[in-house]
Amino acid sequence: MLSISNLSVFYGAIQALEDASLTVEQGEIVSIIGSNGAGKSTLLRTISGLLRPRKGSIEFEGERIDGLTADKIVAKGISQSPEGRRIFTNMSVNENLLIGAYLRHDGNIDSDMNAAMDRFPRLRERIKQNAGTLSGGEQQMLAMSRAMMSRPRLLLLDEPSMGLAPNLVTEIFSIITDLNKDGTTILLVEQNAHRALEIANRAYVLETGKIVLSDTGPALLNNPKVKEAYLGG
Ligand SMILES: Nc1ncnc2c1ncn2[C@@H]1O[C@H](COP(=O)(O)OP(=O)(O)O)[C@@H](O)[C@H]1O
Ligand SMILES: [Mg+2]
Repeated sequence: MLSISNLSVFYGAIQALEDASLTVEQGEIVSIIGSNGAGKSTLLRTISGLLRPRKGSIEFEGERIDGLTADKIVAKGISQSPEGRRIFTNMSVNENLLIGAYLRHDGNIDSDMNAAMDRFPRLRERIKQNAGTLSGGEQQMLAMSRAMMSRPRLLLLDEPSMGLAPNLVTEIFSIITDLNKDGTTILLVEQNAHRALEIANRAYVLETGKIVLSDTGPALLNNPKVKEAYLGG
């Protein structure tokens, strides 16, 4: 579904990704784990068309998408829930969800709004509230739901568990699994390596801009190097 080849991305003179290659098959959950500064967000932002690669290519469903604008990439079927949520705090929950559907012209937006609220009943309770009044966990639910409003076939999630209490982390990861079961392919980026590997079909380890390891989720959970560096021994 997604095929990334030899991707190099720079911020001015700083190289954030070096020759990164990876694939995501339709129906998978693929996780990318790595420390702070490894290049995880850079990778997702490049897929989304927010950054331009200096080298390499990105193909989605057989078509090159590097070079397309971000809105065109959303229209192709990829959307991102960004690091730090980036919801519009001075707008209502309802308005935030509608923004996620801004490229759509079909008549099913109401039913997708309902599906989002069924998945996250707390969003229904707070639908008219300013999004800035939501807790961190609720803001994460909103960011993911907003991304789902464009009906992506590939959902990019940048550190959805960041800053959340353990019970909410469990809830968010179980929702990710549900979204995948309902047919959305997922590329997940996380510092929470344990959880990210647990739900992944396959995963990659990113270190200072390079992919250094890839395997199935269970194999990486048992990999001594991964245990040592990312799972607290
Ligand atoms: N806007 C930016 N300008 C310059 N350097 C950046 C910028 N954003 C990220 N970087 C650098 O690129 C590297 C990768 O960052 P990032 O992709 O945010 O990593 P991660 O998401 O894995 O924490 C880091 O060295 C970071 O300092
Ligand atoms: Mg990041």
